[in-house]
Amino acid sequence: MANVVVVGMQWGDEAKGKVVDYLAQDADYVVRYNGGNNAGHTVVLGDEVYKFHTVPVGVLNEGVTAIIADGVVLDPKVFVGELQGLRDRGIGAEKIKISRNAHVIMPYHRSLDLIEESSKGDGKLGTTGRGIGPCYADKVSRTGIRIVELVDPQRFRTKLAWCMERNNRLISFYGGEPLDEKEIYKEYSSCAEVIAPFVADTAMILYNASRECADIVFEGAHATLLDIDHGTYPFVTSSHCVAGGACIGTGVPPTMIDRVIGVAKSYTTRVGAGPFPTELTDETGDRIREKGNEYGTTTGRPRRCGWFDSVIVRYSARINGVAGIALSLLDVLSGFDTLKVCTHYEIDGEKVTDFPTDPTVLDRAVPVYEELPGWDEDITQVRSFQDLPANARRYVERAAHLIEAPVCMVSVGRRRDQSIVLDAEMLQM
Ligand code: IMP
Repeated sequence: MANVVVVGMQWGDEAKGKVVDYLAQDADYVVRYNGGNNAGHTVVLGDEVYKFHTVPVGVLNEGVTAIIADGVVLDPKVFVGELQGLRDRGIGAEKIKISRNAHVIMPYHRSLDLIEESSKGDGKLGTTGRGIGPCYADKVSRTGIRIVELVDPQRFRTKLAWCMERNNRLISFYGGEPLDEKEIYKEYSSCAEVIAPFVADTAMILYNASRECADIVFEGAHATLLDIDHGTYPFVTSSHCVAGGACIGTGVPPTMIDRVIGVAKSYTTRVGAGPFPTELTDETGDRIREKGNEYGTTTGRPRRCGWFDSVIVRYSARINGVAGIALSLLDVLSGFDTLKVCTHYEIDGEKVTDFPTDPTVLDRAVPVYEELPGWDEDITQVRSFQDLPANARRYVERAAHLIEAPVCMVSVGRRRDQSIVLDAEMLQM
């Protein structure tokens, strides 16, 4: 029996979906604890590609209960669309549960997200435009709509009227077009009817499951450096993306978490604005982007690409207390003569090994690299660490040494089977 948190260690898109899916094969519950449909988790099974934004990837495994917990912000229309997509593909979604306490992303949140971004000029964050920030802002201001209110027609009508008045005033202040309350009520009431049967006290379900020794995977969305407190604020998302968020976002106590697995790409990417010390704005960056298909799952935006930054991943290992690291997309690095790994920064002439999250400090960080020899072989069919080319093994070992945490899995392709397990026990539920 184990309760395992899977968490991203960079700026997102580390292939967490694949690792969660791997663990979910033996799990009873898979739980999304933060974020909303700004996330995009991809799972490839055979020739089938599944992309999830709201529903936990565990839904693909029969027998798994997929939970959308308290810390998530749910866009009802996106959820209903995903549900339909799953049913169209013959996937039973009966075992999805949605927390009563999760907050609802409303159309005015999306409007405000876009309006606020465009009002920022050069200070834009490059948000996904899904209304995430404004929805969490409402939650913290205690003016948001919870799922439990959405699915109660009378409560929803009253709360919506109050929220619409407030938010339309805000939209008008920014020079935007006020939204139509009646239309929204109609549309969201029909979503609420679909959602109602899934609503539950998920904290209680998870507590009882833990006491009954169930296996639970907590599927972190986004990543450590996008965390509202521990990321590169203000260039972050609005939720608790770190492993600790699994407790905050579910009501499961910290004493019930057994292990944290961190997922890190073999290089670094970032979508949206903000500091990125090892970014490559040259041909090498373009080459990584094309080889790694580094385009956003949610928005399709090209991702910024750069060399592996061990300062970042070491920081994430510390903040999340990772037991092991799944190093993903190693196959993308095949074919480079030389690979660079950032060992530390120089900031104002000083050697810095601990990641400074302050963007103004990071803007002055000069990455210091170590060069490692590359390999030419296609490694996508390799299934054991010993069968990797010597230079690929050296790259992984060096990364693990610099991060100061063991690598338990290396991913060499999108499919579930394209995985090299170095520590089976760590990946066991
Ligand atoms: P928001 O989450 O839409 O508010 O966007 C805030 C920042 O987080 C932007 O830079 C986004 O590009 C980034 N972001 C949010 N979710 C993800 C993700 O899942 N992967 C990568 N970047 C993300």
